[in-house]
Amino acid sequence: MIERRILILRLSSLLSKFPRIQTKLLINSLDKDNIPNHVAIIMDGNGRWAKKHGFPRLMGHNEGTKSIRRTLEIAYELNIKYLTLYAFSQENWSRPKREVDGLLKLIGSNIEKELKQLNEKGIRVIIIGNFKKVPEDILNKIDNAHEVTKNNKKMNFCIAFSYGGRDEIIQASKSLIRDVLEEKIRISDINENIFENYLYTKDIPDPDLLIRTSGEIRISNFLLWQMAYTEFVFTPVLWPDFNKNHFLRAILEYQTRERRFGLA
Ligand code: FPP
Repeated sequence: MIERRILILRLSSLLSKFPRIQTKLLINSLDKDNIPNHVAIIMDGNGRWAKKHGFPRLMGHNEGTKSIRRTLEIAYELNIKYLTLYAFSQENWSRPKREVDGLLKLIGSNIEKELKQLNEKGIRVIIIGNFKKVPEDILNKIDNAHEVTKNNKKMNFCIAFSYGGRDEIIQASKSLIRDVLEEKIRISDINENIFENYLYTKDIPDPDLLIRTSGEIRISNFLLWQMAYTEFVFTPVLWPDFNKNHFLRAILEYQTRERRFGLA
């Protein structure tokens, strides 16, 4: 079965000029019983896309929101239960003020704009990160998105915003130490399950698959704890060019992997 999927992956890349046929082939080749429960994505390459087309960087981010919509749609169709996007890292605060302001505005306005439709589709919106530096108007939009969608069950759309994996682990450790000092928990009782309860992702299962676009092969401080056994797929495609078929190919590639979780 795995060999067959590898062959189909090769065949599908020959069909890039015929996207509809490619979609059909990919969808028909997927094992519906092995769809990843949680897909995380590092959406990289917006700046390079903009440069390639002679546009300012923010145009790249703007175009990237169209890829988010496409990806969310196909993930929803495939019944993927968790989709997590790395929208803004803690390191991104150090970018030029113009770009940071533009990104914040884009993220805030898109959360607001898409909320009604997301809610109608039964999608729960979860935004994770360290919000200390986040302006009040965006915090209000985040709270509102959480509140409006909190009972939705069809799918979880998680946005990592002002997020850093190391920082998340430090924040979790601080809260855990506080609980130890207040004698709510004994040191001897601490284990992986307990620790996970202190992470931003406490109610979210670990990602099964990570996709990173733009050809960079690293995880850039994303979900460090949670990706201990995640399968990685790296694609050279720049995020604004990432489409439904690229996503389907990544899922098919995931299905060529044998997951052993450290077992024989
Ligand atoms: C990486 O490309 C991308 C980002 C830092 C931002 C991604 C954010 C969006 C697409 C908007 C998100 C909106 C919502 C609602 C979640 P880069 O700028 O690092 O690209 P480069 O490496 O080519 O310079």
